[in-house]
Amino acid sequence: MMPRDRLIIALDVETRARALDLVDQLKGRVGLFKIGSQLFTAEGPDLVRAIVARGEKVFLDLKFHDIPSTVARAGVEAMRLGVALFNVHALGGATMMRAVVEAIKEAAERERLTPPRILAVTILTSLMPPDLKQIFIAERIDRVVTGLAQLAAESGLDGVVSSPQEALLIRHAVNRPDFIILTPGIRPLWAQKHDQKRVLTPAEAIREGADYIVVGRPVTASDDPVEAARRIVSEIEAAERESPYPQGPYAKYSSFGPRDY
Ligand code: C5P
Repeated sequence: MMPRDRLIIALDVETRARALDLVDQLKGRVGLFKIGSQLFTAEGPDLVRAIVARGEKVFLDLKFHDIPSTVARAGVEAMRLGVALFNVHALGGATMMRAVVEAIKEAAERERLTPPRILAVTILTSLMPPDLKQIFIAERIDRVVTGLAQLAAESGLDGVVSSPQEALLIRHAVNRPDFIILTPGIRPLWAQKHDQKRVLTPAEAIREGADYIVVGRPVTASDDPVEAARRIVSEIEAAERESPYPQGPYAKYSSFGPRDY
């Protein structure tokens, strides 16, 4: 895995034209493109197909949270679109998570498709302790986050989306070397923070054990997205050189290729 493979660009833009313009500029220079609910609601599955058809990898960030059969079927549709990665809420429960893992495995074999990796969202990082209390979650956030990460791992998911501050905690709590940790909330020192509050730099996130980092506006809102992405990739590379894990902690497991069940 190359340093650029660890950079995921959040395509939080309004139109297909803008999204494809960014993809065409950044093609081959970054690891994946993330499509979230804004762009997916505006432009739909055809845009996902268009990016996949360009040979690029897509992370479909729709955070499925529903009854097990619905999430399982939605996951299979994500696989049919050709995404490399999608996510579900761990708060949907172990039965839901196992259902989607099973459905993907069966459909991948039946239809000879490459199974995407499935990540869990634990607790949204926008929620603070008073917000959790309001929704009847009384435990400390770090215990909820690590407990849900463990549940996701036991349910057969491939990893979690987490705040970079939680990455090390999760790495220690989950006893599975192939568990993927993907972190948004990243700001290089030279970029504006926008609405992000507790941010880490790309290098810090890599040193904290993140396998992948998600960066949006510092690249997509830049006058020169190619140069912005290049600078971030070189920060990742420098962090790898200083890190005890020269290729990234679990690089050999995280190439998003076909995998054995
Ligand atoms: O532009 P920026 O780098 O802030 O974009 C970060 C992306 O990661 C956005 O798509 C945002 O929805 C997502 N994200 C986040 N914080 C989380 C979870 C997801 O910023 N805790």
